[in-house]
Amino acid sequence: MIQKLKSEFLKEFNEAPDLITRAPGRINLIGEHTDYNLGLVFPAAIDKSMYFAFKTNGTNSCRLCAYDKNEKVTIELDKLDADLLWAKYCVGVIQEVFALGISLEGFDCLFMSDIPIGAGVSSSAALECGFVMGLNTLSNSNLDKWEMAKIGNRAENNYLGIQSGILDQFSSIFGLKNKAMLMDCASQDFTYHDVNIDPYTLVLINTNVKHSHLSSGYNDRPSECRAALKIAQQQFSKINSLSDLNKLQLETIKTKLSETLYKRTLFVIEENARVLLFKNALKEKNYNALGQLLYESHEGLETLYEVSCKELNILVTLSRKELSIKGARMMGGGFGGCTLNLIEIKNKEKIIESMCEAYFNKTGITAIPYYIHIGQGAELL
Ligand code: GLA
Repeated sequence: MIQKLKSEFLKEFNEAPDLITRAPGRINLIGEHTDYNLGLVFPAAIDKSMYFAFKTNGTNSCRLCAYDKNEKVTIELDKLDADLLWAKYCVGVIQEVFALGISLEGFDCLFMSDIPIGAGVSSSAALECGFVMGLNTLSNSNLDKWEMAKIGNRAENNYLGIQSGILDQFSSIFGLKNKAMLMDCASQDFTYHDVNIDPYTLVLINTNVKHSHLSSGYNDRPSECRAALKIAQQQFSKINSLSDLNKLQLETIKTKLSETLYKRTLFVIEENARVLLFKNALKEKNYNALGQLLYESHEGLETLYEVSCKELNILVTLSRKELSIKGARMMGGGFGGCTLNLIEIKNKEKIIESMCEAYFNKTGITAIPYYIHIGQGAELL
């Protein structure tokens, strides 16, 4: 990939790049929609990445090339603007870099990827993180990992208008091979945990239903949670987020909440609890418990948080019929994307293939499995 990246850069810009970065996609074992509720998440980086080549060009503009899409864009640094979605992510990052008082000279950048796009494994965070890492070096800024992750997240919040949390950028930047990271999003403290689940493994199945956080219901969820928090704070003034509430407290304010806000809050409280149980089950290699927690998480996401969709539910229902699958759930923002399946390594291809066939018969859509591994976070190469 890196050789190809260099040669395509040379072809495109007639010069060799002087800087290469890589940033991976992510999975989330459990702890969904808890990041912006300042709760617990348990993600990992995957062994699929976006690769970027950079070189300054002595002008005041940035020529960007998305190799896989065969699309090129020129962005003027004194007039930040872009129409194409991927270029908007780049502009958002540049804008956030400028907001820190960092100045940039014009540069050329070409990137390519083996991360499936729009599949719920955060190709967008990989784009932000690999891009900001390049800008960090080009501008000699010495930004640390957290600063870079937050720039990526703020680019989404402020420029793209997506009210996402820090989960995706955190995972892409801090990931380590074979480790998942349990983070408390309130303190941003996190610990690494081995993921030794042999004779099981994790397989993603892409519903091939595309979601955009802007047009799906994604953005409604943070607003709903803010509304629920406001009501909860009238009774419990010390809480900072829905993750500070417990079930007993929730029951005392149930009549003040609409049914929807009650369900959202209950989900957040239960999902945070599941993250801790998952951590213990992982350590104890209790695969039945891990699987059960995945199914419970899915059920909560479907019925309480209401971010699943027909196709995700079909894949999870199909997984329940397979003895070698211990558990499955929708992963990421929802409204499409992937399911995460805990499956026995033995015969996994055969089982997944037959599930995909059954899925096609029910939906007319071809699902795509991804046999991913837990990989290393973003780096300068
Ligand atoms: C998307 C968002 C994340 C997080 C997840 C759900 O991936 O970008 O911030 O909210 O959905 O856990």
